[in-house]
Amino acid sequence: MTILMTRAALLISAFGFFLVASSSAQSTPEASPAPSLVIDLAAPKKAVSPYLYGAMTEEINHSYDGGLYGELIRNRAFNEDTSRPWMWSVVAGEGSQARIALDSAHPLNPSLPNSLRVDVLSASDERPAGIMNPGYWGVPIFSKTKYRLVVYGKAEAGYAGSGKISLESNDGATVYAAADVEGFSSEWKRHEFALTTDDLAAATKGRLTIRVNKPGTLWLGFVSLFPPTWEDRENGNRKDIMQLLADLKPSFLRFPGGNYLQGDTIASRFDWKKTLGDVAQRPGHRGPWGYYSSDGMGLLEFLQWSEDIGAEPVLAVYAGCSLRREVVPAGPELEPYVQDALDEIEYIIGPADSNWGARRAADGHPEPFKLNYVEIGNEDWLDRTRSYEGRYRQFHDAIKARYPHLKLIATTGVKERMPDLIDEHIYRDPWQLRAESTRYDNYDRQGPKIFVGEWAAREQTPTTSFQAALGDAAWLTGLERNSDIVHFACYAPLLVNINPKAVQWKANLIGFDALGAYGSPTYYVQKIFAANMGTEIVKVEGAAIPEENWQPPADRNGKMPPARRLPTLHYSATCDDKTGMLYLKVVNSAPVASEVKLSFKGSRMASEADFTVLKANPADTNSIEAPLKIVPQAVKTDKASNDFTHTFPPHSITVLAARYAKTP
Ligand code: AHR
Repeated sequence: MTILMTRAALLISAFGFFLVASSSAQSTPEASPAPSLVIDLAAPKKAVSPYLYGAMTEEINHSYDGGLYGELIRNRAFNEDTSRPWMWSVVAGEGSQARIALDSAHPLNPSLPNSLRVDVLSASDERPAGIMNPGYWGVPIFSKTKYRLVVYGKAEAGYAGSGKISLESNDGATVYAAADVEGFSSEWKRHEFALTTDDLAAATKGRLTIRVNKPGTLWLGFVSLFPPTWEDRENGNRKDIMQLLADLKPSFLRFPGGNYLQGDTIASRFDWKKTLGDVAQRPGHRGPWGYYSSDGMGLLEFLQWSEDIGAEPVLAVYAGCSLRREVVPAGPELEPYVQDALDEIEYIIGPADSNWGARRAADGHPEPFKLNYVEIGNEDWLDRTRSYEGRYRQFHDAIKARYPHLKLIATTGVKERMPDLIDEHIYRDPWQLRAESTRYDNYDRQGPKIFVGEWAAREQTPTTSFQAALGDAAWLTGLERNSDIVHFACYAPLLVNINPKAVQWKANLIGFDALGAYGSPTYYVQKIFAANMGTEIVKVEGAAIPEENWQPPADRNGKMPPARRLPTLHYSATCDDKTGMLYLKVVNSAPVASEVKLSFKGSRMASEADFTVLKANPADTNSIEAPLKIVPQAVKTDKASNDFTHTFPPHSITVLAARYAKTP
């Protein structure tokens, strides 16, 4: 094991370069001749990557616990803090009394070291006493909704009390749904209840309470509450966030991280074998983003989630490098981790009669999942011991020997083996990202393909403004134009619980609280870009494209680079000969409209065309209060032709979808 660097140093080196003061445009565009775009369907074309638009996910910003994962009880297994019953408190009143403590003498099972001991000192039918949990910044109470509650509990021998479980307001004055509990046993017993709310005027946030009517001692080992979930899965996902994800139609899902894959330490990496099976037996683990993960979102749940939204899994396997100075060197010490990755792949794609395929079948999914891409580690350029070359080689050789069809992704450059793809992470400010839109124009086409495994214009928290969306969209035109080499791209992070206490990372794609969810303006950019993709890249020649001055931010040494000119129009085009559809994307970042002459060569264009437009003030954004402030507008025209002029509004992102017939 080798000492690398502290987490703090690591964060600075990982992000410091990208987080230098935001740059900004210095002037409005200058007058210039009318801009024009020649879209040439006759020019040689390269194939578009069918995978280009995907999604990346990890447990950050309470993406799963307190987010997508349906569980509503925080610290459901009493294991998130071993020193106190965190998130649980006593509910008692005048004439009733109780106290609570963690109890390691009465664990529910070997994976969960503590139960919650509840000593009810005084209680009666009129004045019951017990405990409550406020969930993740409020338990959502929806109208006419059936919740599923699972409680593992026991009581001292001979306990004759009965209890009530309620979903109620935070002051306890309003009970929205309740169930009675009777027949306490002195052995651990699993109880399941349905809690159904009536017709409520509006959804609200509340808490879960469990009260009893007689003094005595009780233990709780696991308390879990789920609302209705996507596909009605017992251990499933929130419907509203899943709907946003399904609407995005990502071609792939990169998981489980990110730093979450690596963990702060080797012991706290994403140890997939511990995330399988009965949720009441999953130990969970502390993630690198400052909170405990229940691991309710385990490997099987990641795979089902991918399947549910029609995305192909891109699996990242732990490759021996954790964030806090812990690296397993290549060689015999690394072998167990290589074997772990092989087992993980077998769990995903092995036949149901293979060792780990059988485990998957026992977990409820006999059919193998789809898997074509495996990433070895995450951001291994951070490994100052420079051991990735050897670690990559070891994983590469073992995986290719057993699964030759799998394409492997390296997280930084390696020389001894040729990876199929290299993962690049591009976090910039909106202007920098615009400037980066040419990044791949002259890239080496002979080397590995590119996986932009994380990218974003970072300027606002928890989700970004339209200013960032303009930078993001301009950047995406560069990826589309180069999608012969840029095979995959995914914005990161994907999800954020917008409660300030839940956020670790600014600039996220989808925001939510306990009651609702929304997409950032960039969410809609990705949605309309992905929905309007051809199969081949079409050459677009721009002339007289307006520009503005731009002062790039200081580098990491504080040195100011020279000012640059930055185009205010970015564009790309793709077409599909089979469907006869052409898609042109134009981003106008300028505060003024741009009248652009569009000429289509090598085809006869239909007069009817569809424009999808996103436009807004740069400072505007979507939010939980105004989730649909910035959404695409559809406009039809019957005035398209091979040569026509279109006015792109100020600060706008436009997709033109038009039918064409090839001309000889
Ligand atoms: O997306 C947030 C973090 O940024 C990821 O966990 C890590 O891979 C990157 O540095």
